[in-house]
Order: sequence, then C-alpha cells, then structure tokens
Amino acid sequence: MLTAKKNKTLTEVGKGTPMGEFMRRYWIPAAKSEEIPTSGGAPARVKLLGEQLVLFRSGDGELGLIDEFCPHRRASLAYGRNEPGGLRCLYHGWKVACDGRVLESPPEPPARTFGKKLSVASYPVREAGGLIWTYMGPRELAPPFPKFPWLDLPPDRLLVVKMYQATNYLQGVEGDLDPAHPNYLHRDFEPDDNRSWVGAGWQSIGDIMSDGSPEIACEETPYLMRHAAIRKSADPDSKYVRIFEWVAPFYCYIATGAHESQLFKAWHPIDDESCFTFYIHFDPDRPLDIEAIYANWGHRTSPPDYKTVHTVANMHLQDRKLMQRDNFSGVIGASIQDRAMQEGMGPICDRTKEHLGTSDKAVIFYRRLLLKKLEDLA
Ligand code: FES
Ligand SMILES: [Fe+2]
Repeated sequence: MLTAKKNKTLTEVGKGTPMGEFMRRYWIPAAKSEEIPTSGGAPARVKLLGEQLVLFRSGDGELGLIDEFCPHRRASLAYGRNEPGGLRCLYHGWKVACDGRVLESPPEPPARTFGKKLSVASYPVREAGGLIWTYMGPRELAPPFPKFPWLDLPPDRLLVVKMYQATNYLQGVEGDLDPAHPNYLHRDFEPDDNRSWVGAGWQSIGDIMSDGSPEIACEETPYLMRHAAIRKSADPDSKYVRIFEWVAPFYCYIATGAHESQLFKAWHPIDDESCFTFYIHFDPDRPLDIEAIYANWGHRTSPPDYKTVHTVANMHLQDRKLMQRDNFSGVIGASIQDRAMQEGMGPICDRTKEHLGTSDKAVIFYRRLLLKKLEDLA
C-alpha cells in the first residue's frame, strides 16, 4: 500500500507538482498527426498535464502548441482563424504566433502597443512517428529528442493507436508493470479465428499460460528500469523469460515473442483523472496485419475523442455467457479488459487500501524508483 501523501505525489501531474515537473523534463506525445492534417486547417484542443492548450498547423505549415485562451479576454483560440504565422482570435482579431507572441491587436489605436508586449504559454513541438511531441519543461533543460527506433518506419510497418481512459495515468502504467495479470484477465478458453492473436503481435501470450505465478526481477537502468517475468517452462532445465524495458517518464516496450511485431506503450496524462494510451505497434521487418491487431486488442478509435463505447456504466460490455465459454473476463479485446479493471478502480486508485503481494514486485520497484527520482528533482 501507499500512504495517501505518496499516492498523491505519484498521481498528480499539474504544473508545480513533483510528478508533473518530472514529466515536463521529457519529450512526450501531445497528439496524433492526423488531428491537424492540413496547414491552415482546424486547430485541435489538447489538454496535457492539466494544461488546456491548442495545437495547430499554421497557414504556412509551422506547428504551434499554445495556451488555448486568448490573452485579451480569454476567448478560446480553438475557434480562431488559422493564418500564416499564427491563430487569429475571432472575438476582436488579436493574432497570436506559434511561439505564443501577440503579433497584432487591431482594435487598439496604433499608439497603444501593450498587446505586442504580451505572450501566452507556448511549447516546442516536433513531429515524428505519426505523433506530435512536445517538451513542457524549462527550455534550458530540454533533453535531446528521443531516438526511438520505430519513429522512422514507413506507415505499413507502424500503427499508432490512441485510446481514451477515464483514469489517472498510473493505473495504466501499473497494468504494464504487472506480468501476472495476463494469465487471468487476458485468458482465452477457445480462441476463435478473429481473436487467436495470429498476426496481432502477441500470439506468444499462449506461452505464458502454463505458469500463472511468474518470478519477477527488476533493475534500475540509465533510462529508468526493466522488469522480467521468469516462468517455468516445459523443460525443467530452462526458464521462459519476458523482459519489459521502461524509459522515463512513462514509456514501455512490452515483451513480445521473438518473431512478432513489437509494442511500445506511451501515455498522455490529460489531467489527474484521465489519460490517453498510445499503443505503438511496429515491425521493422514486414508490414503489420492491422485488422488482426485491432481485432485482438479491441482498441480501434477515431478522432476527435478517441473513445470506445466501453465504460464503467455499461460494464465494458461484459457478456457473462462469453465467460462460460470463450474467455475468463467476458470482455472482448485485451485493451478493453485492461480498461475494465483500471477504470473500475475509480479515477484515482485508493492505494491506501491495497494489499500488494509477490506478483506486484515490479509495481513496488517502480513506485520506489519514481519517488526517489522526484525527491532528487526537488
Ligand atoms: S478575446 Fe481574443 S481578441 Fe479579444
Ligand atoms: Fe493487460
């Protein structure tokens, strides 16, 4: 369990909070490129780490990520006219550049130049791997842009899926730190052709089903940590080991089989009580089977809200007949099964009431490591 204070420290992401400041020291995904497909097209509202922002591709193709609200009288710039050089507020025509500077304040007499001295919050943006990334920390401490190997893959080898989750980001992260849960939550009894994991990058989930009580080993790395799930195998002289690599602040290479497509997970904390998950499926060697991936993970979404129909209110469409026959959970799609458990905890899990066991070793290791990193940053 955690004290209420530590739970707060690990889950609050707003500006000035310890975790919020830690996350602001890294390049993080702000949106998918498809959310602002054309120069001069509609801007997209982006809420990230509790800040309400607007993302746009200006009329001359420059990217901007700025405070959503006009510095004049706080109208939303998401409604603004998207012009070369910046967004023009509809209310009184002030124009704000991609870097947040006020360029024009037309109703003001020419002698009044106060508007030109103003600027709104703005963050640097980079586009790579089908995503728009931003860095929201102090400019002088900006790290180099990450060189994840999947960033330059062609579109048929890279599938970036974004899905809304009605919880704090940490509930999602702790799902990926927990290698025992697939033996239960994700167990299929009679996989049908559509959900056999063939081509979906996780067919090797079948290999872990023989041991539902893996040993877990963790170690700190220069980039954050890794954890391994060590299972008994059919051969008494060998073990079956799956390793998960974690990269600060919240990225994870999920263990997959040697000849499967790979999976990188990233998070977009919207605020303390909601987030987007990015599932980045990639295969450097061959085109992905995109339909098989969607069918097995169940995470097909579309802009602007990237929600599926599943909620706590409709029990994630759990089907109790399916539970007798097909799978352990009665919920279709591994991503939806995860969300059913994580959203069912409530928006911020009350970790003062949990009872952690040996299967939670990586969760414990991660929390301790992050708390130490937050202390070091303070
Ligand atoms: S509120 Fe934006 S120009 Fe007045
Ligand atoms: Fe899971």
